[in-house]
Amino acid sequence: MPPTLFIFSLLIFFSSHAAALDFCVANLKGPQGPAGFSCKTPAKVTVNDFVFTALTKAGNTSNIIKAAVSPAFVAQFPGVNGLGLSIARLDLAPGGVIPMHTHPGASEILIVVQGYILAGFISSDNSVYLKTLKKGEVMVFPQGLLHFQVNAAGIPAIAFPSFSSPDPGLQILDFALFGNNLPTMLIEKTTFLDEAQIKKLKAVLGGTG
Ligand SMILES: *[C@@H]1O[C@H](CO)[C@@H](O)[C@H](O)[C@H]1NC(C)=O
Repeated sequence: MPPTLFIFSLLIFFSSHAAALDFCVANLKGPQGPAGFSCKTPAKVTVNDFVFTALTKAGNTSNIIKAAVSPAFVAQFPGVNGLGLSIARLDLAPGGVIPMHTHPGASEILIVVQGYILAGFISSDNSVYLKTLKKGEVMVFPQGLLHFQVNAAGIPAIAFPSFSSPDPGLQILDFALFGNNLPTMLIEKTTFLDEAQIKKLKAVLGGTG
């Protein structure tokens, strides 16, 4: 092969493969491992893999917590695969609350864009960090710590939490305790709550046993 043709072939090779180094849009049909999903064929990737439009709409807050979280995690938004981040929309109707919960896989940074939100977290030495946030204000919740958000005014609140993982995970404390078949006797033993209170919460949250 003449040297110029060789260099030309190299250029073609690197330009056609360069995109694969820039991103790894999730192939959601494949299995998910600890490092995320495998990559969609770069030739099939379009701008729409990097755009998520569903957060323009308010979530449905007609539920017992009067709140909705609309996730744009890797399962909904394949473009964030492998990038170490994701986002969601939080709608809190008056009286709404995101109950005490953790994200095992990510820190969270929340920006309020409408209304007032009382947000807080509890550190592993059980110190409490609380603040009422207004439009434009931001709070960060360190990875793995229990935290919550409560509507702090009589008007709907909107916020956008962003996460340091495409798949932050979510565990809600009350569902972990009262929304499954963990036996009432063991909940009594391990939490010091009384049986009547446990049964009441199981009835509300769908727990048995
Ligand atoms: C919101 O959710 C409630 C309860 O599931 C349902 O009855 C209602 O139709 C939903 N509203 C909209 C606009 O989807």
